[in-house]
Amino acid sequence: MKEKIDKINALKKEKNAVIMAHYYVKDEIHEVADYIGDSYFLSEKATQVEADTIILCGVSFMGEGAKILNQKKTVLMPDASADCPMAHMATAESIAKVREKYNDVAVVCYVNSNAELKRNADVCVTSSNALKIVKALPNKYIYFIPDKNLGRYVAEQVPEKEFIFNDGCCPVHAKLTKEDVLKAKEAHPNAALLVHPECEKEVVELAEYAGSTAGIISYATASDKREFIIGTELGVMCELKKNNPEKEFYPLTETLICPDMKKITLDKIIDSLEKNTFEVDLEEQFAKEAHAPLVRMLELAK
Ligand code: 13P
Ligand code: SF4
Repeated sequence: MKEKIDKINALKKEKNAVIMAHYYVKDEIHEVADYIGDSYFLSEKATQVEADTIILCGVSFMGEGAKILNQKKTVLMPDASADCPMAHMATAESIAKVREKYNDVAVVCYVNSNAELKRNADVCVTSSNALKIVKALPNKYIYFIPDKNLGRYVAEQVPEKEFIFNDGCCPVHAKLTKEDVLKAKEAHPNAALLVHPECEKEVVELAEYAGSTAGIISYATASDKREFIIGTELGVMCELKKNNPEKEFYPLTETLICPDMKKITLDKIIDSLEKNTFEVDLEEQFAKEAHAPLVRMLELAK
């Protein structure tokens, strides 16, 4: 593995490339990442990096997001098939229908969405800023796409607005159940449960904290508690353990693996750097239209 890491570091220099990775990717990728974080961090960073090429280790909405925010740079995805199923769980047609029915509606699009959805939205959000942004919008109605669970989680905290939900969800987080929680709590009675808001209500209700991956890591790091049950994709364990070697982290279930995030390997990064594959290519006008809702997010999240 050391050999591959050295090779990647040399290629990065040669190509003036940076590696940006989401927490969920395999531990070995954390070793070579220049920037590692949650979706919001990666979006913001994409507007700031100076390198010519960004290697985005994550799923395709992240690569598209980096390209939309930085259209002059080359953005490469080491595995072109790494995709988030939820990113396709709404349609431009459903947006058009909602816009027809409600005058004063804001279409709020979770960044876990393809560029076609983003370009039809009014503003994007991530799990770390959705609440703040929805509260700041002047509109009475919010059409929240594509995740019904994050939408519900935000709606519960903004009773003054009326939400229209969409029937999408994350297949990894949404399969967690109350029974999983009770079992984990029985096994670790002193542990605090930290979950991602992509989980169902029955799971979020039993958590001490719900938030983005970066939020979960900060919460556990700042907490006086020593034991935590983690209700999000298990890639976060790497950063949690690195920051908190004296604390214990238990997976809520062993099934919390996002298969697409795990497609990225060191070999694929080497290929990507050597062959310039797989370039994120978005039509200029299309990218321009998707740019506005992302920029509005970055402004409102400040
Ligand atoms: P974050 O917004 O915490 O980065 O999560 C992204 C994601 O894909 C959750 O499943
Ligand atoms: Fe998409 Fe869920 Fe994977 Fe996150 S964990 S990238 S929401 S499938």
